[in-house]
Amino acid sequence: MAKKKNDGYLSAKESRRISRENRKITNAYEKARKRKNVPESEYLTTMHDPNNAVEFDNLHSYFFTDTGVVRAVDGVSFNVPIGKTVGVVGESGCGKSVTSLSLMQLLQRPQGQTVEGEIRLNIGGDKAYDVTKAPNSVMQKLRGNYVSMIFQEPMTALNPVFRIGEQIEEVLKLHDDDHRTEEQFKARTIELLEMVGIANSEGVYRMYPHELSGGMRQRVVIAMALACNPRIIIADEPTTALDVTIQAQILDLLRQLKNKTNSSIMFITHDLGVIAEMADYVVVMYAGRVVEKGTAEDIFYHPAHPYTIGLMNSKPVVGKKVDELYSIPGKVPNPINMPKYCYFRDRCEMCVEQCSGEYPKEIQISDTHFVSCYRFDGKEAK
Ligand SMILES: Nc1ncnc2c1ncn2[C@@H]1O[C@H](COP(=O)(O)OP(=O)(O)OP(=O)(O)O)[C@@H](O)[C@H]1O
Ligand code: SF4
Ligand SMILES: [Mg+2]
Repeated sequence: MAKKKNDGYLSAKESRRISRENRKITNAYEKARKRKNVPESEYLTTMHDPNNAVEFDNLHSYFFTDTGVVRAVDGVSFNVPIGKTVGVVGESGCGKSVTSLSLMQLLQRPQGQTVEGEIRLNIGGDKAYDVTKAPNSVMQKLRGNYVSMIFQEPMTALNPVFRIGEQIEEVLKLHDDDHRTEEQFKARTIELLEMVGIANSEGVYRMYPHELSGGMRQRVVIAMALACNPRIIIADEPTTALDVTIQAQILDLLRQLKNKTNSSIMFITHDLGVIAEMADYVVVMYAGRVVEKGTAEDIFYHPAHPYTIGLMNSKPVVGKKVDELYSIPGKVPNPINMPKYCYFRDRCEMCVEQCSGEYPKEIQISDTHFVSCYRFDGKEAK
């Protein structure tokens, strides 16, 4: 039996015990979250820098599953400045989506819970809310008005049995504080469709999702996300389902819209090419942690973490002939059972002596550039 456990298998009894314990933990979180009339003072906070739209500060979001606790996001800190685009990169499963879902408070509950850390959301007028402590009623107001999300697959965000116009109007009505008339709702919907580059806006207004192409649908989803002029747009792989020409159009569109409204974009993708085109700042995640962050220039011209260097090397370059594309050897550690040392050590080709120690702390190597790696120990920027 013991051998089986070492192989990663769990007995039914063990699994039942874990799920019982987890249920106790998640019930306590859910109870706290469902409280009514939570005073604002409990989630009111101040931004550490008022030029930021969002500050993730030591965020821990876990999933309490029957096989154990998945530490999907395990101490993530980075900022999204107002009017800037922050690209979040990292391989599949590293916690990019869980980070953004934590900001929206849309983790799959009750298993998914933010257990530690703050996410400060700048709501203007020197005020900020810590969304990890905000109750559901407040989150409902913040979603759409302050933060909205463009999902990867437009068909899952659209309801196939309602016309496009109705679906956008529903978003507007949900957040309407101005008591607009039906005509005003329609006018705003048409305006939004035109803003995202849909020429036949009156026609599309009456169409069903299946009558549109993939690119058009993604434009509609973007129109919905922008309906209430959010300050932060989370774009989670918004173009992976599209072909490259449409992808370029959508990226252009997002850039234009961002400049027009001075909103911030948190752009999540595996595609370094897209990041190079879109991002002012880049955050590199690995196994639930930020391993490197800096300006796009820092990351592209001076990558410091061996994982980032590996990512750069695995990018195909036009005109450069190679026998085989580079891929980073090995695999990510099991998120239920993370090692005590650097999570990248088992795959790292640049290890130094200190790497056998505990997880490396974050080191600042320039005004804007941070890395968690022992290779930079003692090389901090003065
Ligand atoms: N509902 C869930 N229940 C249990 N574990 C989950 C759940 N959602 C995500 N996870 C786990 O959390 C970790 C992070 O997942 P996440 O979706 O954030 O990855 P990602 O970086 O967005 O990957 P991708 O690039 O594939 O979208 C993964 O190990 C995943 O298995
Ligand atoms: S700390 Fe060591 S093992 Fe980890 S990435 Fe840096 S060099 Fe590699
Ligand atoms: Mg994802």
